[in-house]
Parts: sequence; C-alpha cells; structure tokens
Amino acid sequence: MEIIKLGNEILRQKAERIQKIDGAIHTLAAEMLNMLEQKKGVGLAGPQVGVLKRIFVIKLVKEPSMVFINPSILKTAQETVKYEEGCLSVPGVWADVIRPATVAIQAWNEKGRPFTIEASGLLARAILHEFDHLEGVLFIDHLSELKRTRLLAKFNKL
Ligand code: NI
Repeated sequence: MEIIKLGNEILRQKAERIQKIDGAIHTLAAEMLNMLEQKKGVGLAGPQVGVLKRIFVIKLVKEPSMVFINPSILKTAQETVKYEEGCLSVPGVWADVIRPATVAIQAWNEKGRPFTIEASGLLARAILHEFDHLEGVLFIDHLSELKRTRLLAKFNKL
C-alpha cells in the first residue's frame, strides 16, 4: 500500500460503492488504519491508496479509530468555520479551508454495521475532507484561485 500523490488522476475519480462488506474490506480498513498511523495522519480515503472504493478511515488523537463505508452526508450546518488543513496526498503544504461547522453522516463500519453520527469540530472537518476524496475533490479545490496557485507553486518546489 502506497499513498497516491497530487498529480495522479486516481485522486480525481469518483470512488465506487462497496457491494459487500466482507473479509477483504475488513483487511483493507485495517491496512488503511495502519498506513494512517504510520504517516501520522488524521484521515485516509480509498482513492489515496489507489482503491477507488467508497471507504475512509479517521483517527483523531485520544479517540478510537473509525471506519466509514458507503457514507452518505445527511446534513451540514449552514454555519461555517475556517481551519488549517493538510492532506497526505498533498504533503508539505497546509491552508485554511472554510467548511460547514457540523455534519451528520450515515455509513457502515468494517463489520457491516450501520451507524449515524453528528460531528462537530475536528471530526466534522475530517469527515468532510475525507468524503471529498470519494468524489475526487481535494482540499485545494476549496481555496481561491490565487491561494491555490501559491500553494501549488510551493508544493511543486518541494
Ligand atoms: Ni486528504
């Protein structure tokens, strides 16, 4: 398993729904969580490891890890917040991104159990960032053109 970086078209494709949550998906989730820990990231989505499937994992400091399979966003707050984001697929650069302050999401875990959560703070931020990956969207897409150009210039220099 390897992290796919900006420039690879896989990151721009829409991920496909997972038909069956079986042992292979269970293993995939475990490997993604291992990778996330290794890279000291907060979240990791399927397309970032070359798997165009609707799955992402999140691990916040002092919180248990979470697996989201075939997620649907039920609701987002109208209130927005600005917070600095980075991405394992766009290493070395960070930028403030404006997103809804809260999100309600429904998904299945790696055991095939459905769940719904309402998240705020860092968890909401991570969920929205990772969900974007399933749609082929990156955090840099949320920036103004000027800020994105500057960020990409810095990224390309690294
Ligand atoms: Ni990311």
